Amino acid sequence: MTEPDSPTNNGGLIFIEPASGLEIRAVSPSERDVAARILAPATGEGTAEAALTAIDELLATDKAALYGAFIGLEMVAAYGIKRDGMSNEIPIIAVREDHRRRGIGRALLQDALRRSGKRPLVVETDDEGLPFYKACGFKLFGKRPHPSGIVRYRLGWHAPGVRFKGGSTNALTHKPLDRSSDASS
Ligand SMILES: CC(C)(COP(=O)(O)OP(=O)(O)OC[C@H]1O[C@@H](n2cnc3c(N)ncnc32)[C@H](O)[C@@H]1OP(=O)(O)O)[C@@H](O)C(=O)NCCC(=O)NCCS
Repeated sequence: MTEPDSPTNNGGLIFIEPASGLEIRAVSPSERDVAARILAPATGEGTAEAALTAIDELLATDKAALYGAFIGLEMVAAYGIKRDGMSNEIPIIAVREDHRRRGIGRALLQDALRRSGKRPLVVETDDEGLPFYKACGFKLFGKRPHPSGIVRYRLGWHAPGVRFKGGSTNALTHKPLDRSSDASS
């Protein structure tokens, strides 16, 4: 039997953004290299190799999953999710550079929240990632300065009422994707 609110629980489900056709589903093993190239900028090293290692480590842990966002057959973004105590955490997330600032990152976080069920979502980030998470509805609850001078922030997002079976999604700060820039290309 599957455990409630495990990030892998709903791995078989595919979510589709009605406005854009963006499809968010589990990344298959044969798609991991593509996901690693997209996730490279989200690693300290900034390489696909580092991202592949991060993916392998993620998927080796219990209750973890890797999801991708697809436009047609093309993967344009990806994120990992894993259990962290009573919460679920997003250890890695990135949108392909040529698809940023169109709401895809927000759509990934909304997807993660849906798949998280009753469990809050937690992220850890630095000054660079902070505005994105705050804009998407995450609330700051922890700040940890490193000896290097870099500050790490912990943020959480909980949407009561968000459920898979007939639940409300009113708590989500939904904003349809802006695909207008696609039309011109
Ligand atoms: C961070 C990232 C995932 C955001 O993805 P995205 O698809 O561009 O984000 P969205 O378009 O959904 O942005 C939603 C909101 O977040 C905020 N935001 C997003 N990127 C931002 C940035 N670089 N600076 C400031 N605010 C930002 C904005 O308020 C934005 O809304 P707006 O465009 O209407 O102003 C993407 O820039 C990325 O992949 N970066 C490299 C990897 C990375 O930094 N990962 C996070 C590690 S902590």
